[in-house]
Amino acid sequence: MPDQSFPESFLWGAATSSFQIEGDPEGRGHSIWDTFCRQPGKVLGRDTGDVACEHVARYRDDVQLLKRFGVGAYRFSVAWPRVMPFGEGEVNEAGLDFYDRLVDELLAQGIDPWVTLYHWDLPQSLQDRGGWPARRTVDAFVRFADVMSRRLGDRVGNWITHNEPWCVAILGYQTGLHAPGWKDPAAALAAAHHVLLSHGQAVPVIRANAPGARVGITLNLVPSVAASNSEADHLANQQFDGHFNRWFLDPLAGRGYPADQIEHYRHQGFVPAVGPLPFVQEGDLETIAAPTDFLGINYYSRGIIRSDALPEEANAPRSVPEPAKDSCTDIGWEVWPDGLHDLLTRLRDDYPQPIYITENGAAYSTGPDDDGVVRDRKRQAYLEGHLDACWRAIRDGVDLQGYFVWSLMDNFEWQEGYSQRFGVVWVDFETQERVIKESGHYYARVVKQNALDGSTS
Ligand code: FCB
Repeated sequence: MPDQSFPESFLWGAATSSFQIEGDPEGRGHSIWDTFCRQPGKVLGRDTGDVACEHVARYRDDVQLLKRFGVGAYRFSVAWPRVMPFGEGEVNEAGLDFYDRLVDELLAQGIDPWVTLYHWDLPQSLQDRGGWPARRTVDAFVRFADVMSRRLGDRVGNWITHNEPWCVAILGYQTGLHAPGWKDPAAALAAAHHVLLSHGQAVPVIRANAPGARVGITLNLVPSVAASNSEADHLANQQFDGHFNRWFLDPLAGRGYPADQIEHYRHQGFVPAVGPLPFVQEGDLETIAAPTDFLGINYYSRGIIRSDALPEEANAPRSVPEPAKDSCTDIGWEVWPDGLHDLLTRLRDDYPQPIYITENGAAYSTGPDDDGVVRDRKRQAYLEGHLDACWRAIRDGVDLQGYFVWSLMDNFEWQEGYSQRFGVVWVDFETQERVIKESGHYYARVVKQNALDGSTS
């Protein structure tokens, strides 16, 4: 076994988000996910976030769990409607107090809080006034960022403005799979722009309120390959990359929106055929490119991109086979650790900056055996493969500074409800009992050794 140790300063962490774990709906205003959960057919089993993991009541125990993992950092998000029930205006002191107490508890246990400001639970009142497609939501977000960084800036040194703008914009406003469930591609592009703009505007505000803090944004990036060597598949792959990755990476890097993708959206009629993009105002692109301290990456799987236009060509020689079902996690995502290595080396070359993996993990439903042990071998194998990819990336010169497993515990998995379990801790949703899974014990060993299991460090 080679010595697979990580740099001494490497940061190990675990991640969650507010709506997925908190519960306590009485303590906050309504979010778009509360509304979405109540619309028939949107969320599996009509599950809601009302109880979730009862984290608001149990946060002290959950911090103890984190301690048992030995992680140096915990990434959580703030429920905007808990702090500002209507998204703007009135501030709910009791809500702010909760995050105060959580931060203090983490610090008392030697765990660094990493705060994500927006992880999808938009106050419903802001959606009623147009949501992310409306530019006024940018102002509301910046105000929220101001309130939070004033309150926590003396203790929180790492801030993530947004989690996965692609999901916010595209799943929320184009495919309608996420709240608020719109199916309007033009609105989705405006939403994406406003999310990015609100990030850029919030960066200096957070810096002013939290001197010395480090600020970044988290993107979900998907490395992709063409399904075959046909030209049609290559083109489809380039468009997929433009839509999913470059549409966000390029403006953040100060390069504006990618020209080929603008053309594609014009062609599809998502934006006018000529002239400037309707949602971009003077100075926006400079604002979006505000210098940041790191880029957060959420990685789960790769894409194999096939053009529907020419199916016969898609079967050309050298085609990439569809992943077999047993190489996918329960949610249907292919297990492909090399994709993480490919993604990280691409970022090293094309978008160089410090990187943290802010989410990575796998959905498997494995529960406790009769003896109470959760033998989730497949999740452990997933983590082994992806941590190995991280180690190889660092060896290959990637400035990867930390890794957060998704998730600390099983939780509300958006449109899948509670059917998909990503935790390294099992949660019994009837009793709220928590059990560290075997994969969690594995992860704790890696954290302790600062090296992959079995290496000779
Ligand atoms: C990511 C989300 C996170 C979780 C994982 C599985 O897209 O950021 O909340 O649902 O997927």
